Amino acid sequence: MIPYCSICWDVDKVKLLDQRRLPAEELYIETRDYHDVIEAIRTLAIRGAPAIGVAAAMGAALGALDLDTQDPGEFQSRFQIICREIAAARPTAVNLFWALDRVLLVAQEHAAESVDAIKAHLVTEAQTMLKEDDTTNRRMAQAGQVLIRDGQRVLTHCNTGALATGAYGTALGVLRAAWEAGKRFSVWVDETRPLLQGARLTTWELGKLGIPYTLIPDGAAATLMHQGKVDLVILGADRIAANGDTANKIGTYSVAVLARHHGIPFYVAAPLSTFDFSLPDGGHIPVEERDAAEVTHLWGQAVAPAGAAALNLAFDVTPNELIAGIVTEKGIMEPPFSSSLKPYRPTQG
Ligand code: MRU
Repeated sequence: MIPYCSICWDVDKVKLLDQRRLPAEELYIETRDYHDVIEAIRTLAIRGAPAIGVAAAMGAALGALDLDTQDPGEFQSRFQIICREIAAARPTAVNLFWALDRVLLVAQEHAAESVDAIKAHLVTEAQTMLKEDDTTNRRMAQAGQVLIRDGQRVLTHCNTGALATGAYGTALGVLRAAWEAGKRFSVWVDETRPLLQGARLTTWELGKLGIPYTLIPDGAAATLMHQGKVDLVILGADRIAANGDTANKIGTYSVAVLARHHGIPFYVAAPLSTFDFSLPDGGHIPVEERDAAEVTHLWGQAVAPAGAAALNLAFDVTPNELIAGIVTEKGIMEPPFSSSLKPYRPTQG
C-alpha cells in the first residue's frame, strides 16, 4: 500500500497532504476551519479534480460543524453561503461544483431534522465521497489497464495519481493497475510548467509505485514522438463537455496535437464526476487564469526580467476529435463521445 493520503477526515478535522511542499517534505495540514480548506484548494496545497471535489465536500462539512445556530432555516441559508465561498476557490475542475451540489442536496433532503443531525449527515456524506472516489478510480483503472502492454513507453502530463484524487488515481491509476497486473512498461513524465506537477508529484508517486519513469521538459515530447519513442499517451481531465472536449492542465492540447501528428493513441482517464453534461462543447468551459508570478518566478526567484508580461492559463481544452478514448469507471468511451456518453447523462443534465 502507498503510505500517504491526499486528504482524509480525522474525527472532527480535515487532514491533507500539502502538495506545495512535495517532493522535499511530506507535511500534513490539519484544520477545523473551512477557510483553510478554501486556501488549500486555491494555492494548490490540494489539487487535481477529484481531490478538489473531496476537499470541497469536507470543507463544507467543517463549515457546517462551525455554524452556531439551532434554527434549521438559518442553518440552511448560512450553509449555502459557505458552499458559495468554497465554489469560488477555483473555476475549472467541475468536481468542485459536483461535490458542493451533493452536500447541498444532503442538507436539503434532511432539512426537517435537527441541525445536529444535518451536520452529522454532511460529515458522513463527505467521508462517503472519499470512499466512492477510491472505488471509482479502481474500477476506472481496471477498465483502462487493457490499453497498456508490455514494453510500451507511455507519456503522461501533469499529475493524476493518488495525490490528485481521493485515492489510487485516474490516468496514473490505469498505469498502476497495469503494473500490479504484471505488465512492464515505462513512463515519460512531462515536467508540466509552470507549477511542475509532473516533475514534483508524478515522479514522486511513480517512484513509490516502483514504475520506471523518465522526467522530460514539456518541449521534449515532440522529439521523442518523432523518434518513435512514445507508444501511448494517457492523462487526466478537469472538466469534460458533453461532446468529449476535455479541459486539462495547460500543455495537454499540445500533446494531443503532437500525438495525432505522429499517429500515437491519446487517451483521457476521468470519472463521470468530471463530466459536465450541461456544456455542449469545450468552448463553454471556464479556464482558470492564475497569477502571472507563477510563470515569471520559480520558488520566489525571478526567472524573467522585473515587469515582464506573462500569461498564466492553468488549463487548455483538447478537442474531442484528438481523443482516442475516455477511460471511465463505466468502461472506455469511444468516439463519437456524444453517443457513447449518452447513457451516462443525468436525466436533467
Ligand atoms: O492545477 P491542477 O494541479 O489542479 O491541475 C490538475 C490537472 O490538470 C489534472 O490533470 C486533472 O485534475 C486530473 S487529476 C486526476
